[in-house]
Amino acid sequence: MVRFTSFMLNLGLALAAPSLIPRQDQGAVNKKLIVGAAGQILSFQYDGKTFKPISKVNETGKSASWMVFKRPNHLYAVDENSNTLRQFNYDPATGKLSDKPILEKTGSPGVVSLEFNHDKTRLLGGSYSNGTVDIWDTSAADGSMKFIKNVTLTGDVNPKHGTHRAHQIVPNPSGRFFAINDLGGDAIHIMDSKKDYTITSTAKVEPAGCGPRHGSFLNTNANPQSIPTHYVILCETMNLIQLYSVEPKKADDTLVLTPLQSLSSYGPGFAPLNATTAAAGELTVANNQRDVYITNRLSGNETDNVSLFAFQGKAGQAKLEFQAQVSSGGISPRMMSLSRDKDQGIMFVANPQGTNGIVALQRSENCGLLSPVPIASIVNTDISKETGGFGPQFVLEIPATAPSSTKGKANKNA
Ligand SMILES: *[C@@H]1O[C@H](CO)[C@@H](O)[C@H](O)[C@H]1NC(C)=O
Ligand SMILES: *[C@@H]1O[C@H](CO)[C@@H](O)[C@H](O)[C@H]1NC(C)=O
Ligand SMILES: *[C@@H]1O[C@H](CO)[C@@H](O)[C@H](O)[C@H]1NC(C)=O
Ligand SMILES: *[C@@H]1O[C@H](CO)[C@@H](O)[C@H](O)[C@H]1NC(C)=O
Ligand SMILES: *[C@@H]1O[C@H](CO)[C@@H](O)[C@H](O)[C@H]1NC(C)=O
Ligand SMILES: *[C@@H]1O[C@H](CO)[C@@H](O)[C@H](O)[C@H]1NC(C)=O
Repeated sequence: MVRFTSFMLNLGLALAAPSLIPRQDQGAVNKKLIVGAAGQILSFQYDGKTFKPISKVNETGKSASWMVFKRPNHLYAVDENSNTLRQFNYDPATGKLSDKPILEKTGSPGVVSLEFNHDKTRLLGGSYSNGTVDIWDTSAADGSMKFIKNVTLTGDVNPKHGTHRAHQIVPNPSGRFFAINDLGGDAIHIMDSKKDYTITSTAKVEPAGCGPRHGSFLNTNANPQSIPTHYVILCETMNLIQLYSVEPKKADDTLVLTPLQSLSSYGPGFAPLNATTAAAGELTVANNQRDVYITNRLSGNETDNVSLFAFQGKAGQAKLEFQAQVSSGGISPRMMSLSRDKDQGIMFVANPQGTNGIVALQRSENCGLLSPVPIASIVNTDISKETGGFGPQFVLEIPATAPSSTKGKANKNA
């Protein structure tokens, strides 16, 4: 802990003196971000100090709480308040967004997560309201979506939700398997793209009522395309972070998840002020497969927090260890994502409530720590004034060109 405290002090000093800011900020920073808020989709340019607005789509009543991008210019957005999947034109070079969807298709209601298969010919949508996963064909050159089918989650459900909720679709880096985090079913379902997108196994998440929300595969193998070795999940209802081992069963017939560890998402010595409202939200893993970031939401404190856990995957000793936490700058951080430079030097966090809507936290690739104070922010009143004070819930950097360094890594929004 002492080590990390001094790191944080160093980071704090570095931030106070701009000349000492780590290397990714010394060159010209020109990142383009897409932001989803209630009733709006926005794009910004981020130069390392400020966020400059580029486009703003006004869509009263809709909620683009998740988006994915396919080159050259196809942006897909959920509307979690309806059953439509929308396609927009988005130019990654300029950050300009079409002022309306160019195509809208009907699928399951309340979709909150989208992911592609490896070559982006299929798009999967996870429905919170309906407990289904929609499978779309996105192979057409114009990016248009064609509905193929929906897959219904099955098994017991917890009393809090009373229904299955496909909260997140998590691709493994090879793009073959997907984990479906089922908040209402306390389960992680494995879907296989080679078997026509059927669910081939299910791991129960315990204790009952845990409420698995967001998660990620982890891989300790040198080849990132190999079958992952672990899975980490964040339970919203019980504020737990859990580690599973992952093993292929019968020549990759399916993946088998076995629980290894369960610990508080707050880490030792921290607790929410209001345990009734506390609901852990997002989980993001750095490319180094070591740094696992989670958000603790609705803690009842002045702001909510982002916490860092370190994963070590040594055979037989795999574990997660709490490292540190910093303020998210606002309330209810629903989604966060790392910048797309090689060192992933920035964590962008989206807070729908509280003072800061979007913050950029400096990240150290050496130790994974985030700066305790944002290096840039957009206040919520700048974003949410037209939409009843409800600000951003999604933020994603879309690089102007496909980064070659991500070859062989997860294809997430490449
Ligand atoms: C957004 O659209 C709504 C109605 O669709 C309208 O009332 C509102 O003024 C618009 N806001 C802006 C900033 O254009
Ligand atoms: C799911 O697919 C079935 C056909 O298999 C269809 O009847 C149903 O309307 C679909 N549900 C949704 C929400 O799209
Ligand atoms: C799923 O959606 C369909 C179509 O909107 C609806 O008929 C069905 O009742 C929904 N099921 C659940 C479990 O919400
Ligand atoms: C948030 O993090 C700060 C800094 O470590 C800590 O003082 C505070 O207790 C944390 N708040 C919660 C709700 O965990
Ligand atoms: C959150 O509340 C707890 C309990 O009062 C307190 O110990 C902690 O310091 C608070 N954290 C922040 C960031 O206000
Ligand atoms: C916790 O939140 C609930 C629901 O908003 C509220 O009724 C209660 O007063 C809060 N408790 C504290 C200690 O703030």
